[in-house]
Amino acid sequence: MALRIREAEPRDAEAVARIHVRSWQAAYRGQLSDAYLDGLSVEERLGQHRAALESPGPHRTWVAEEGGRVVGFAVTGPSQDADADERTGELYAIYLDPDRFGAGIGKRLLDHALADLRERGFRTATLWVLETNERARRFYEREGWRADGLSTRERVDGEMRPTVRYRILL
Ligand SMILES: CC(C)(COP(=O)(O)OP(=O)(O)OC[C@H]1O[C@@H](n2cnc3c(N)ncnc32)[C@H](O)[C@@H]1OP(=O)(O)O)[C@@H](O)C(=O)NCCC(=O)NCCS
Repeated sequence: MALRIREAEPRDAEAVARIHVRSWQAAYRGQLSDAYLDGLSVEERLGQHRAALESPGPHRTWVAEEGGRVVGFAVTGPSQDADADERTGELYAIYLDPDRFGAGIGKRLLDHALADLRERGFRTATLWVLETNERARRFYEREGWRADGLSTRERVDGEMRPTVRYRILL
């Protein structure tokens, strides 16, 4: 089916929130607590995504659409890491609907996100990934990203979870 990638609009907030919740529940099972994952709510996420799409600031949300259905999204913008310069962009998120994992859509969205960062003048891109998210790490490594040695711990599901930073030259 033909895949189209376009910038998200406020009317996409519901699809983005639904994918966010479904993708987290599928991908992070066994990495984050079941109670947290089972408690994720599309309604709660909807408000955040709608606000972000209505006032995007320097962040851009890209949606992948297949036959008119939104099946994934990615978010790009400047990095806010302490060691970032003004030429460092960030991939803030990339999530697919679980029924579309493993079909090559992630690569299409990633390529699009990186082209956007490149066009905006960024020279390097970084992203943060849960240390335990081996599938996503393999995906990034296949696409040429490398862990740059920086790691931190983030409070995600009430627990401090190790996350590692990846980097690629644009
Ligand atoms: C990471 C992601 C964007 C990659 O996009 P993609 O289009 O699925 O990429 P690929 O086609 O290369 O497949 C990626 C992996 O999904 C796996 N996969 C295939 N079918 C799957 C399924 N039904 N359920 C889970 N994973 C599946 C593939 O086997 C591959 O893993 P591998 O390295 O073990 O082969 C996408 O899989 C996704 O949304 N994952 C969940 C969210 C996530 O982890 N995001 C990154 C946060 S930092």
